[in-house]
Amino acid sequence: LHNTQIPLKGIVHAAGIAEYQVLQDINLNTLESTLRPKVAGGWLLHQLSLGMNLDFFVCFSSIASVWGSRGQAHYAAGNHFLDTLAHYRQALGVPALSINWGPWAGGGMASEETQTLLKRMGLEPWQAEEGIAVLAQLLGTNIVQATAAKVDWNIFKAVYEVKGQRSLLKQIGTQQQEQGEVQPALRPQFLEQLDALPANKRQSFLIAHLQSQVAEVLGLEPSHLADVQQGFLELGMDSLMAVDLKNRLEVSLGQSLSSTLVFNYPNIEVLANHLATYILSLELSTQQELQKDPKELSQASVELEQFSEDELASLLDAELAALVN
Ligand SMILES: NC(=O)c1ccc[n+]([C@@H]2O[C@H](COP(=O)([O-])OP(=O)(O)OC[C@H]3O[C@@H](n4cnc5c(N)ncnc54)[C@H](OP(=O)(O)O)[C@@H]3O)[C@@H](O)[C@H]2O)c1
Repeated sequence: LHNTQIPLKGIVHAAGIAEYQVLQDINLNTLESTLRPKVAGGWLLHQLSLGMNLDFFVCFSSIASVWGSRGQAHYAAGNHFLDTLAHYRQALGVPALSINWGPWAGGGMASEETQTLLKRMGLEPWQAEEGIAVLAQLLGTNIVQATAAKVDWNIFKAVYEVKGQRSLLKQIGTQQQEQGEVQPALRPQFLEQLDALPANKRQSFLIAHLQSQVAEVLGLEPSHLADVQQGFLELGMDSLMAVDLKNRLEVSLGQSLSSTLVFNYPNIEVLANHLATYILSLELSTQQELQKDPKELSQASVELEQFSEDELASLLDAELAALVN
């Protein structure tokens, strides 16, 4: 860093290794090799350049350290170190900028396969010239850390909130419809067919429909889904597939559905029960009365726990009296 007539005026830290491995499979070697360029590399550049009068010190960090990325916990941690280093440098009064980049096209560490997957999640890659323009823009500001990604929030938010709301995304509005009835031009064919069936055939028709939709989403034959109690997660369903399933069901049922539907009702049986009872209000034959929604049951039992035995007895009396009348 010292051995030149021309003073060094800026540093761009762009070294890194991206390997995909789920957390439980990351061994010490993989962890070290992923952290080394980011942590050791970033820290060395920081220390060795501290006495220099730099104009800029830029760290190429990643969106992985902002909202996480499956199979990249180690990479996310390394990038998070760079983000923290930038804030630390700012506290020392020296130049610092960490950019949490979304994917770049053009043959870097985001392979074609990764880019395709990220596009499905609503993330478009930067072309090199676009990325450089963003870098130039940020260098002209006092910003210490910025996320630079091309995001379609409608898609991204649905995928990232499939298991529940994320506080990071709370303020981000999307154009998704509120839950409730959609007004399609035509009543979906599936509903027409369902209505035409006698009451005692509807549940099995709904289950067969779910089997075929789940099978398409998972790329399996419907015959693989004979066990309607087998969990979607166990069958290999990920967040993208869960959103895909929800979207398909919204079309076939003509209703917008909760973004956490598949996570809350995680197998065909409970999903069918929920849809039949609470979304479609299906009339079934008496022998076929669907079981109570398990979520509702647990909610009910929590509520019942709040009453004393005497209170419960009088509640029961009131319920019986109402039935008799
Ligand atoms: N490309 C993207 O979509 C993307 C998105 C977000 C963030 N980023 C970040 O942007 C930076 C550049 O990405 P890229 O796509 O240009 O990556 P890349 O093509 O894979 O290049 C990474 C570079 O880091 C060097 N490197 C790896 N380990 C090193 C070590 N221990 N010491 C010194 N150099 C080391 C590699 O050198 P060798 O070739 O000699 O191994 C390689 O030249 C990375 O820090 C990455 O984390 C990239």
